[in-house]
Amino acid sequence: MKYRIAVYPGDGIGLEVTPPAVQALQAASAHGSPKRERGTQAEGLELEFTELDWGLRHYQQHGSVVPEDFLEVLRTFDAILLGAVGWPALLPDHVTLAPLVKIRQAFDQYACVRPAKLYPGVRCSLAGKGPEDIDFVVIRENSEGEYVDQGGRLKRGTPDEVAVQTALHTRRGIERILRYGFALARQRRNKLTMITKSNAQKYGYVLWDEILVELAPQFPDIAADKQHCDAAAMNFVRSPEQFDVVVASNLFGDLLTDLGGVISGGLGLAPSTNTNPERTFPSMFEPVHGSAPDIAGRGIANPVAAILSAAMLLDHLQQPQAAERIRTAVAATLASGVGTPDLGGKLRTEEMGREVVERIK
Ligand code: NAD
Ligand code: IPM
Ligand code: MN
Repeated sequence: MKYRIAVYPGDGIGLEVTPPAVQALQAASAHGSPKRERGTQAEGLELEFTELDWGLRHYQQHGSVVPEDFLEVLRTFDAILLGAVGWPALLPDHVTLAPLVKIRQAFDQYACVRPAKLYPGVRCSLAGKGPEDIDFVVIRENSEGEYVDQGGRLKRGTPDEVAVQTALHTRRGIERILRYGFALARQRRNKLTMITKSNAQKYGYVLWDEILVELAPQFPDIAADKQHCDAAAMNFVRSPEQFDVVVASNLFGDLLTDLGGVISGGLGLAPSTNTNPERTFPSMFEPVHGSAPDIAGRGIANPVAAILSAAMLLDHLQQPQAAERIRTAVAATLASGVGTPDLGGKLRTEEMGREVVERIK
């Protein structure tokens, strides 16, 4: 099978962590690895990469972070590998990041899957917790909620200025993300925790609560429960072992996955998908982290989050063995104790990437 992958490194450390992720994909596919003999598992998997120079670089040349037809360009690919976007010192974030949110929504990438897994060998920021305690997946609703572009500003610049920002929750949107979570829970430890804030938000989140009650009887083998987002934030730190599959609305999922990342060894290790489960459109794979201006350009970013996102891309292309080869190599690398500075190590981005790529068999 041949797949066409759009590679969109973006800005800041996105430019640094994407090349190792591409190298991992090449190594995991039959044609990319000089070490691999034809006839092994990956025979027939061919990946063709097209790099897009979008982001700040594109803005400086053309006055916009992406070309006008960016959705049509991306639409033709089988998958998108994104580094990170944003360079707030030069461009306001809401300008730079708007196309990213647009891609997620226009391509109906409604399931944002963000595993929080502490690998052996990685130090945990939580005292007394280890790999057996932190292994859950956050499914973030990625198409509506607080991220819909609905609102407005009135009386700008006056003391009477007003801003209205609407959150949108649809029965269809809530039901499909919960079904996605239930299905994943069936493949894991049969537990689903839905995150809302229905004690304070009585329209949108009460609808979430009602739909959970309606759906749960269809999944009698899954222990389904709910928590308010404030309590969930506390429990991620206090007792992460209680979580298996967590389903959260768009904004809560965003917040909780930075937290999930940091308790699993840091954002340098946390991968993400933006999945269109129906495969009508390409799905997009990217780390949870952003462009990290504080370390960008120094060659010290951890490429593992991007590499694990690339493994999730292979899962989506129904290449689970190739995906697993990458994950096994990451696990072996982390277990060996080497790492970039965020992990307490001394390796540079390229060196860390090479440690993983050389272990892909
Ligand atoms: P960030 O995720 O970029 O960085 C947060 C902290 O984590 C920083 O201290 C950074 O150095 C560290 N970090 C992140 N990734 C790392 C890695 N791979 N290795 C080592 N350390 C790493 O968040 P921020 O600083 O709040 O945001 C920076 C920019 O990125 C902003 O413009 C923001 O809007 C944007 N952003 C983009 C995305 C995305 O592209 N999907 C996601 C989040 C933030
Ligand atoms: C993420 C990011 C984005 C989000 C930003 C960059 C729009 O924080 O992917 O987690 O809020 O979804
Ligand atoms: Mn985020």
